[in-house]
Amino acid sequence: MRPEIEEAARLLRAGKLVVFPTETVYGLGALATDDHAVASIYELKGRPTFNPLIAHVDSPEMAAKYVEMTPLAQKLMEAFWPGPVTFVLKRKKDCRISLLASAGLDTLAVRCPQNQIALDLIKKTGEAIVAPSANPSGEVSPTTALHVQTSFKEKTPFIIDGGPCRVGLESTVLLVTGEKAAVLRYGGLSIDDIEAVSGPTIRPEKDQDAPMSPGQLKSHYAPHLPLRMNALEAFDGEALLGFGPAPNAVLNLSSSEDLKEAAANLFSMIRQLDTPKYTGIAVMPIPMEGLGFAINDRLKRASYRK
Ligand code: TXA
Ligand code: MG
Repeated sequence: MRPEIEEAARLLRAGKLVVFPTETVYGLGALATDDHAVASIYELKGRPTFNPLIAHVDSPEMAAKYVEMTPLAQKLMEAFWPGPVTFVLKRKKDCRISLLASAGLDTLAVRCPQNQIALDLIKKTGEAIVAPSANPSGEVSPTTALHVQTSFKEKTPFIIDGGPCRVGLESTVLLVTGEKAAVLRYGGLSIDDIEAVSGPTIRPEKDQDAPMSPGQLKSHYAPHLPLRMNALEAFDGEALLGFGPAPNAVLNLSSSEDLKEAAANLFSMIRQLDTPKYTGIAVMPIPMEGLGFAINDRLKRASYRK
């Protein structure tokens, strides 16, 4: 095994980010179970929103540790993994993958990349690696290590250089929780190849009720309780979710006003407070800077009532 792979696995387990090659594009990886490491991904990419991330696994068996398999998923994984296709499935009840990686959804995207370095890295790490494409928000996906270095400059994490990516296009993303596969993103594996195995798919340009990709959903992740933003204090019955000094907060996203810590805690704390014990969740103001944009974006979606 290349020594960089062992070093990268060590860094991942220590909560650091690592850039690694896949057959599609380079990925910006974090240990999938580490909320803080996942928050660092969003921080480094500078995304204004939390888009859910793909968990990279070394096999269907590893995927089955985290998600509820379906017959359709099983069949497609057998046909196309390792390869440039990602499957979105329900998270298992005991799924250990960071909720921030799922951006608060009850689904998780899983993919087994067809690249020996990536597969060795996942095995050596012993856990899934979540990774978006390794580019700052708004730039195109990188297909060489040099692209990554050019964009992130001195902020570039440890990179394993595996040469140019063979496919050069992100993976195709399919929702496979039901009996028909629904296309969420076109990518490196053609729909014709997929349909040869799965039968007809549901496609956004053809079907009115095709599922939307999560970024387009207004009520992306809504808790059961009403959620109120920019609250300075809780009303009767509400739970106060604090940020900064807050003696009356039930939970605090970050008492030291650290936005990365707040992002890491966001989804799990909202879930903890989302119980009939309270009548609502009041969230203290989060500043609009750095990760604050993405946090406020999600809070806004969570406060939108259907
Ligand atoms: O080829 C690829 O897929 C590359 C390499 C690194 O694996 N990764 C990649 O990740 O392109 P990213 O984060 O740039 O794109 C992930 C896509 C997004 O369109 C996201 O909305 C979708 O997958 N996605 C992830 N989790 C999802 C979920 N739970 N439900 C629906 N869509 C999901
Ligand atoms: Mg991307």
